[in-house]
Amino acid sequence: MKLRRCAVLYIESREDLSIDWRTVLSGGNALAASSHWVALAPHLDQEITIDAGQLAALGGASQTVWRERSAVEQQYGEVCIAELLELGLLIGDTPQYAAQRARDDTLRDTHWRPLSALAHTFGRWRGVVEETGMEAPSFQALLDRFGEPPPPTLDIHPELAIRLPAPAAGRMDEQLLQRYTGRNYDLQASVPLEVAARLLQRTFGAQEVRQVGPHSEVLKKTSPSGGGLHPVEAFVLAQRVDGVTPGLYHYHPMAHELRPLQTMDQDAAAALSRYMLADQHWLSGAPLQVVLVARLERSYWKYRNHQKAFRAVALDAGHLSQTFYLLATEAGLPAFITAAINDADIEKALGLDHLRHAVVAMCGCGPAADGPRSMVELRYGETDAI
Ligand SMILES: Cc1cc2nc3c(=O)[nH]c(=O)nc-3n(C[C@H](O)[C@H](O)[C@H](O)COP(=O)(O)O)c2cc1C
Repeated sequence: MKLRRCAVLYIESREDLSIDWRTVLSGGNALAASSHWVALAPHLDQEITIDAGQLAALGGASQTVWRERSAVEQQYGEVCIAELLELGLLIGDTPQYAAQRARDDTLRDTHWRPLSALAHTFGRWRGVVEETGMEAPSFQALLDRFGEPPPPTLDIHPELAIRLPAPAAGRMDEQLLQRYTGRNYDLQASVPLEVAARLLQRTFGAQEVRQVGPHSEVLKKTSPSGGGLHPVEAFVLAQRVDGVTPGLYHYHPMAHELRPLQTMDQDAAAALSRYMLADQHWLSGAPLQVVLVARLERSYWKYRNHQKAFRAVALDAGHLSQTFYLLATEAGLPAFITAAINDADIEKALGLDHLRHAVVAMCGCGPAADGPRSMVELRYGETDAI
């Protein structure tokens, strides 16, 4: 049997701080620090504590060249190697280790930049229901806690400034100067099907299709995209869209169709939304929601092992979000975007693999509730405390 190291592996020296009560009682420095090694391997999707012997064996193994197991065992011991194979940090070439090898191969085949794979894998949330600071604290509360923030902008060479004319009125002003993030949705209202159709098509749909190879198409959309690849897809969570059964759908950008993944009743859709949004109840009432999912394999097909590729994917999602906001505004609807989502759980619900896909953000929109607002919004022309 032969083995090699998994493709991407980072080791962290993790510090554990504790109070040393014996020292406290004798009047010494109370804070005690110890540390242990943590292996971070994106294909395993969990942190693994390892010891110094395992660290040495991993450090000595090649991620490319397969070596005879017996030779490696001679160097580091049979037990150590058996444990690392079982953990999936070393990859074996026999059927016994097929599952770990398949995950490692998926990572290799997707052409990840290793640091990006690390940041993506270990930055995901599962089961977050309340995150400190997410209950949108008022700016006054932030001032009380952190003091004054850095100024709102740079102020470079004011003495050399060239004054610019006031912006002329333009056709886009109507949307630009009405757009705001809605946090008070009408929980009874729905989105008409025609409105949802325009929003989805003009944000996520292909406006044109160019045939660039026998089986290769390039889509033209209303937002720009790194490499023109448009890796970000729209999965719709319909809560109250006229004529659409509540549930999860994939929006097909070329066919302009909603393809059902899972339908459910309205209460189940509301609960799912709140869970996906990590308990942000001020957003979960929006009747039409969209999960922005990057198909990394499409982007990395061109940008192989590329430092900027993962960042470009996040920028793509941001552009789509602004287009979505402006189209919602045109329809008289407030909208939202958030990255504070349980992306690892959403992957499961949508049947996605984090090594090939990134659930980047969620958007949504819907009619605003009448009456007093319970959550802060930054609407133009208002001067309420925020
Ligand atoms: C990347 C990103 C993440 C955001 N995340 C949240 C969020 O988690 N919860 C929320 O209520 N708003 C979120 N927002 C909305 C911002 O809070 C909002 O844009 C900001 O307060 C300015 O208000 P405006 O959009 O009405 O101009 C997010 C916006 C962006 C661009």
